[in-house]
Amino acid sequence: MWSVHLPVGVILILLGWFSAATEANWPYASFKTGPWQPPQLQLNKTAGVDPGLIFIPIRNENSLGTAVTIYDNNGEMIYQGPEVASMNFRVQKLFGEDVLTYWSGEAGVYGGYGYGKVHILDKTYQEIHTITLTDNFVTGDNETRDSYIDVHEHFITDNNTILVSAINITQHNLSSFGRPSDSWITTNLFYEIDIATNEVIFKWNALDHQDKIPLSKSRQWMYTNPIQAMSWDPYHTNSITPTKDGYIVSMRFYCSAFYLNKDGTVRWQLSGNIGDGDFTGEDLRFSWQHDIRIYNETDKHLVLSLFNNAKKQNISQSETTAMVFDIDLTTMTGSLLHNLSDPTNAIYAGTQGNLEFLDKETATSNMFVGYGSVPYVKEYNSKGEVVLSGKFGALEHAMSYRAFKNKWEATPFWNPAAVIKDGIIYMSWNGATEYDNWAVYYSLSSLVSDATHPMSTHPRTGFETNMSISDTGAKFVKVAARKGETILRFSDPVEV
Ligand SMILES: *[C@@H]1O[C@H](CO)[C@@H](O)[C@H](O)[C@H]1NC(C)=O
Ligand SMILES: *[C@@H]1O[C@H](CO)[C@@H](O)[C@H](O)[C@H]1NC(C)=O
Ligand SMILES: *[C@@H]1O[C@H](CO)[C@@H](O)[C@H](O)[C@H]1NC(C)=O
Ligand SMILES: *[C@@H]1O[C@H](CO)[C@@H](O)[C@H](O)[C@H]1NC(C)=O
Ligand SMILES: *[C@@H]1O[C@H](CO)[C@@H](O)[C@H](O)[C@H]1NC(C)=O
Ligand SMILES: *[C@@H]1O[C@H](CO)[C@@H](O)[C@H](O)[C@H]1NC(C)=O
Ligand SMILES: *[C@@H]1O[C@H](CO)[C@@H](O)[C@H](O)[C@H]1NC(C)=O
Ligand SMILES: *[C@@H]1O[C@H](CO)[C@@H](O)[C@H](O)[C@H]1NC(C)=O
Ligand SMILES: *[C@@H]1O[C@H](CO)[C@@H](O)[C@H](O)[C@H]1NC(C)=O
Repeated sequence: MWSVHLPVGVILILLGWFSAATEANWPYASFKTGPWQPPQLQLNKTAGVDPGLIFIPIRNENSLGTAVTIYDNNGEMIYQGPEVASMNFRVQKLFGEDVLTYWSGEAGVYGGYGYGKVHILDKTYQEIHTITLTDNFVTGDNETRDSYIDVHEHFITDNNTILVSAINITQHNLSSFGRPSDSWITTNLFYEIDIATNEVIFKWNALDHQDKIPLSKSRQWMYTNPIQAMSWDPYHTNSITPTKDGYIVSMRFYCSAFYLNKDGTVRWQLSGNIGDGDFTGEDLRFSWQHDIRIYNETDKHLVLSLFNNAKKQNISQSETTAMVFDIDLTTMTGSLLHNLSDPTNAIYAGTQGNLEFLDKETATSNMFVGYGSVPYVKEYNSKGEVVLSGKFGALEHAMSYRAFKNKWEATPFWNPAAVIKDGIIYMSWNGATEYDNWAVYYSLSSLVSDATHPMSTHPRTGFETNMSISDTGAKFVKVAARKGETILRFSDPVEV
């Protein structure tokens, strides 16, 4: 069929264009009841998937798909939030209650940072706290922002405080690196903020700890002249977790975790680079990591998990894995418990990503992995087998900083939506997790308030349910989202 004599290069370009177009042409759902247009979450799963919903703050080059999005284990959308760039969309505990948290703001600030706020929503999606941060920050462009919380960390502690990351652009003498003495660097800070009052209760700046975190140990390359708008980014803090005695911080450009005492001094360094840091162990091999968390910490022992990118933009080392280590604090050694990857689907995630234990308390718990710059999520069982694999966009076109699987029971403060088109009624309730069927009520009079006669019921089918309206002569209908026979909420009345 290729009988036309095209130069080989042209044929290759055409083929390349077609395959790129296919991959970029990701399917989106659309609905009659509202403007939601979530990208399809394509799923494969086997038995052994844990219950819970999948939380993905999707960033897509198609702005329609850029939103905090919740899917269920079948890939049905449950909730799509506002169209904003967002991070760390997940369930956390605050004052003993489940809350929904996410960051939104200006993403893509030089070096992969951002400036924004953290939103905390209750089980009705009402925003109950908005966390902001202001301090004496200097930015790369001299512009001021109304809040300086960075994209990377927004972790609620057991003390109802939140740990947030931030950056400051500051001048530093880099003459010992052969750079100007008035060079600019990005320093990483983190703050612990009391959620009820938005008051800062702890502040930590990496640059104050050069004794234990020397700039010479950074693995990040440096321009010959680091200026304010393109400063050197030596640390790149991307996770902060509270510990028994302080904090643990992930620094991507040191390929390391730093354990900090309560006063902020460095207690130890665990490096993925053999020969660096305070631990030994053949298996302690990881690089450019994200999301360092610890579990079951005692004075002698802890379990440490991380997302091992093993690749950085334009630096390819090996396949990305999600790792769990057993750390012995008496012998200062580490050994491997898990090194998770999908044997049928090698992923190389240059940036972002995370790993969560779905239930910290049970030995058989599954682990959920978000692949960051590569639009996949995977769930592994405790044997390291893939039990769920999902893809939410085209490669190179969609991503999500972190993805989570959480239990979430929500009843929105807004009403269900209903519309009638061509004798069919369509019903949905964005964000609602608790209803399982719909009941339709009608009014024969022109009085809206008379829409009390039951017409029929229909089981919930995915995000939007439809049914045909029987010919009752109804003037108005309204629908009720129900759990069994219990009405949770009525829609507004709709004219037939
Ligand atoms: C940022 O750096 C500037 C210049 O070094 C300094 O004056 C300012 O206090 C720093 N801001 C924070 C929040 O540490
Ligand atoms: C920021 O402001 C200072 C002081 O006015 C100026 O010297 C510097 O060039 C400005 N930097 C940028 C990136 O605009
Ligand atoms: C919680 O706050 C109390 C009182 O300020 C403090 O003693 C404790 O160390 C804090 N716990 C954590 C995990 O930060
Ligand atoms: C920068 O540091 C070098 C030592 O590394 C020192 O000799 C020099 O005086 C410093 N320059 C300035 C401007 O402080
Ligand atoms: C983890 O798995 C990856 C991919 O299979 C492999 O390249 C790497 O060597 C493993 N790391 C360790 C410490 O076993
Ligand atoms: C990576 O390589 C691409 C293409 O070669 C280039 O456009 C991009 O700027 C590089 N990125 C970095 C971070 O060096
Ligand atoms: C924590 O300890 C419990 C009890 O020994 C165990 O079942 C669980 O798997 C441990 N969690 C992790 C993440 O290792
Ligand atoms: C699901 O499995 C099919 C067949 O093996 C594969 O082609 C597809 O990429 C998988 N999808 C995901 C999201 O893993
Ligand atoms: C009505 O819902 C069914 C699923 O129950 C679906 O297959 C069908 O496409 C929907 N019809 C319309 C017109 O949306």
